[in-house]
Amino acid sequence: MFEKLSNELRMALRDANYEKPTRVQEVVIPEMLNGKSVMVQAKTGSGKTASYLIPILELNTKALILSPTRELASQILDEAEKLGKYKGGLNVSLIIGGVSYNEQRQADIVIGTPGRLLDLWGKGEIDFYKFDVVIVDEADRMLDMGFIEDVRMILGHTRPKMIGFFSATIPPEVRKLAKEFSPQIEEIILDEYKPVEEVEHEFIMVKNDWTDKVSKLLDEINNANKVIVFTRTRERAKRLHYLVNSRGIRTALLSGDMPQSVRLKNFYGFKRGKYNVLVATDLASRGIDIIDVDEVINFDAPRDLETYIHRVGRTARMGRKGRAVTFYTYRDEDIIERVKRMLKETLEAK
Ligand SMILES: Nc1ncnc2c1ncn2[C@@H]1O[C@H](COP(=O)(O)OP(=O)(O)OP(=O)(O)O)[C@@H](O)[C@H]1O
Ligand SMILES: [Mg+2]
Repeated sequence: MFEKLSNELRMALRDANYEKPTRVQEVVIPEMLNGKSVMVQAKTGSGKTASYLIPILELNTKALILSPTRELASQILDEAEKLGKYKGGLNVSLIIGGVSYNEQRQADIVIGTPGRLLDLWGKGEIDFYKFDVVIVDEADRMLDMGFIEDVRMILGHTRPKMIGFFSATIPPEVRKLAKEFSPQIEEIILDEYKPVEEVEHEFIMVKNDWTDKVSKLLDEINNANKVIVFTRTRERAKRLHYLVNSRGIRTALLSGDMPQSVRLKNFYGFKRGKYNVLVATDLASRGIDIIDVDEVINFDAPRDLETYIHRVGRTARMGRKGRAVTFYTYRDEDIIERVKRMLKETLEAK
């Protein structure tokens, strides 16, 4: 299917080593090239980003892409620049809080977070009407983060010919919103909502919520290359980051209360291999794409099943292998039981 695309795209795909389309790309690209609106559910790390960027670039159309977090928006920008690099004069801009990167509101492709976009819109500095395509990425996350009304407001001020919703799950509120703006939207459910199969899951019971976990964590880190560690609070993330770093392990911190510039610096530092460990709050659990993460450690057990799936979805991307280790105390037994049951059901369903 890639062979049917324009020269510029084929060259960019070749440079990116995208030899053939992923499953979601195989289904979504032709639909969007035909101008169809789509609501897509596909598992983590399956290539959803390129599945909407390729048609947008191929159609040379003006697109607005909504993303719940700044890190994610900046990743989409990277992918758009990678795939659009042979499109001379392509103008992509990022509109997110806290950074002024290439803030050209006249750009062909605008990627932004809802809050910042509405902010500019309120000041009359951006016009949503000119976009022919509107994409809502991580639609489920928009809902969780309380952005769904912002998204509705933005959609209400666009007149797109085509809409795309992309998510690892499609909660009822998201489906309702999609149908509101595109009654004929094509629903494409590729994967059930479950962890990717290439992850090996391990659960380790500990007595003490801090010291036992820390010593186990240091063992785990020693046996892995690139690790993301999740904690339940910012405070614990900060403390843990300090501690691991002081052991001479190159460690970065990612949590919501840090200045944006530092957040992006740490994120990219980890992505490029300057750090081996990233200590993060759940802010980092969705959408973040770092291909070679070999282990995810839940230093603190996740609150719910969704969070578990998203956290462990940071490893084993694009068919690679990965490991997920969860530390828990007796207090977490409930959620651990539920996670185990889900994993068992997933395995049996295979
Ligand atoms: N056709 C392809 N061939 C090889 N690699 C690809 C292809 N398409 C995308 N990729 C790579 O796969 C990785 C995952 O893609 P992406 O971030 O779009 O996944 P996703 O489905 O959005 O995941 P999430 O649900 O976690 O957001 C990226 O590193 C991307 O560069
Ligand atoms: Mg994604």
